[in-house]
Amino acid sequence: MEHLFHAGDNLDGLARLAALGVRVDLVYIDPPFATNNEFLMDADRASAVSGSGQLAYADTLRGSGYLEQLRRRLEAIRKIMAGDGSIYVHIDVKMEHHVRFLMDDVFGPRNFRNSITRVKCNPKNFNRYSYGNIKDTILFYSVSAHRIKWRPQGEALTDADAESRYPLVDAAGRRYATTPLHAPGSTRHGPTGGPWRGMPPPPGRHWRYPPEMLDALDAAGLIAWSATGNPRKIIYADQSAGKLPQDVWVYKDPQRPAYPTQKNAAMLERIILTSSEPGDTVLDCYAGSGATLLQAARLGRRFVGMDNAPAAQAVIRQRLRAAGVEWRVVGGVGSAGDAGDIGGVGVGGVGGVGEFV
Ligand SMILES: C[S@@+](CC[C@H](N)C(=O)[O-])C[C@H]1O[C@@H](n2cnc3c(N)ncnc32)[C@H](O)[C@@H]1O
Repeated sequence: MEHLFHAGDNLDGLARLAALGVRVDLVYIDPPFATNNEFLMDADRASAVSGSGQLAYADTLRGSGYLEQLRRRLEAIRKIMAGDGSIYVHIDVKMEHHVRFLMDDVFGPRNFRNSITRVKCNPKNFNRYSYGNIKDTILFYSVSAHRIKWRPQGEALTDADAESRYPLVDAAGRRYATTPLHAPGSTRHGPTGGPWRGMPPPPGRHWRYPPEMLDALDAAGLIAWSATGNPRKIIYADQSAGKLPQDVWVYKDPQRPAYPTQKNAAMLERIILTSSEPGDTVLDCYAGSGATLLQAARLGRRFVGMDNAPAAQAVIRQRLRAAGVEWRVVGGVGSAGDAGDIGGVGVGGVGGVGEFV
């Protein structure tokens, strides 16, 4: 599996990928938000955005110019996505409605899956005639409305969840709940419609399991019998697969990022695990700190990364090396392109794995 990086404008990088016939299964992008800010980094990178430091990247393009350049990139991304691919676009509350129109245009409204609210930070303590803004948005679209990679990751139960969903505690201290062993609908034929241990299912219902399975559950101690002889299935909290994920996520960004606007690694892990398979290709063409690339490599996916800011490229190179991840260069400006342009003459004669600036 060969990870790729393009150190340059992503419009060029995307064209290069298209020419090479690369297909991507999952896209996560976190483009500039038209904030009209310059993001700076301190020398030690410890306290990312501050009033001093060197330029990391400028987010100064606004209005129709901003939207037009983003549209061109979304269209280029769409062209190289697999038929069952998914895309997550991270955007702030000021731009989300504009970008959602763009996404509808490029991917089609029927391929809209979610507008995920992401809680990004702790409550803010200021008064600006508005409520504190602690969220941003991730727009989730797919290429097809029917063919989508989808492996939702259960969320761990909180103590409060466990107490309300599993209100009973057994002699060993295990928290559990019970559910009926019969389900709506009568069955005239088949063993689930008949009596079990002489007990017919209640009128209009059938047993959820055939008699031999009910016997096995009882033998395993997984049936609770009420005082009146009513059997119910025992479900333990510690065997729960967790809660199905919803569209409000709490993933606060790192307090001491390696790069301004660095996103939460666990959030990226969730996206990658839910919407791709091992061996798939994950694209982040606004890579910043390389957070997506690192998670993709860690989870056994191939990454394709791009960023045109030298500061981002330096951070990515340092972090990938520290994690022992190797990659190859796909074109790019300046020395990056010279180091290894797999689209050009001399494929294989690259200037070195892991070198791009
Ligand atoms: C918001 S930051 C991404 C942060 C990243 N998600 C992370 O977790 O670290 C946006 C990045 O996009 C890069 N960028 C902006 N325009 C670009 C372009 N046209 N081509 C490539 N990279 C670009 C910037 O240099 C910046 O590093």
